[in-house]
Amino acid sequence: MTHKKHLLHVVDLVKRFGGLVAVSDYSLTLEQGELVGLIGPNGAGKTTVFNLLSGVLKSSSGNFFFNSQNITKFSPAQTARVGIARTFQNIRLFEDLSVLDNIKVAFHMHHGKGFLNTIFHTKKFRQTEKEITQKAMEFAELMNLTELIHEPAKKLPYGDQRRVEIARALATNPKLLLLDEPAAGMNPQETAELMRTIKEIHAKQDMTILIVEHDMRLVMNLCQRLQVLNQGQLLAQGTPEEIQNSPEVIKAYLGSPKENPHAIC
Ligand SMILES: Nc1ncnc2c1ncn2[C@@H]1O[C@H](COP(=O)(O)OP(=O)(O)OP(=O)(O)O)[C@@H](O)[C@H]1O
Ligand SMILES: [Mg+2]
Repeated sequence: MTHKKHLLHVVDLVKRFGGLVAVSDYSLTLEQGELVGLIGPNGAGKTTVFNLLSGVLKSSSGNFFFNSQNITKFSPAQTARVGIARTFQNIRLFEDLSVLDNIKVAFHMHHGKGFLNTIFHTKKFRQTEKEITQKAMEFAELMNLTELIHEPAKKLPYGDQRRVEIARALATNPKLLLLDEPAAGMNPQETAELMRTIKEIHAKQDMTILIVEHDMRLVMNLCQRLQVLNQGQLLAQGTPEEIQNSPEVIKAYLGSPKENPHAIC
């Protein structure tokens, strides 16, 4: 079988935790440059899908291919190396490091293990370090973090920390960006600003993005295509409009505004 045309091709992915089937026969095809949303209620399996795709968890069965390469059994480091970067629903920053240093970590990871040891204190190191700082500043600016670069990560509100995570993910120069509820903890104004930034990253850098989000308005507005997960299973997929009008989705997830706080209309 060939998977040549697709950036990401996921086939019948399954993840079991003991008796619980968290993800059941999940499939997805992403083309270069797409912006796709993965939605569904709490516990639907969205983060588990991300954990599988980023190598954090190993699948029970199924396969996924990135640029035709089977990466199903790749470690997180290997997955990062082929060009998949992610953010975490539970933020994972180096709390005591500054915003800038948290972003710079991405470059150091990219250069591999021996990087610091082999060229530490050499002229080349200083040169590279300068370039890295400059690059990190650019990503900070892109994510509207310029004024915060010297702040320790732990001092920032959640919304700002999420933007640091995105900056760090972008700094690994990924081909595919996985965002797990990037707007969680943000107020409406911050959310709107983040949406603009994500659109900008998508458009300017032709970045392929898969985004998990609870905020329905946000994904409907942002994504070209949506998948709906429910109890580990794909309930529906299509354009935001198709999803909004899908009887299965309305019944199982969106509900009427009175019955369901996640309702979209
Ligand atoms: N490491 C784990 N060990 C055992 N069960 C897990 C593990 N990770 C997730 N689960 C279970 O798998 C199911 C799917 O969880 P997951 O976190 O993927 O859902 P989600 O769609 O991201 O939900 P939320 O919207 O709350 O973030 C849940 O029932 C959860 O309790
Ligand atoms: Mg989750």
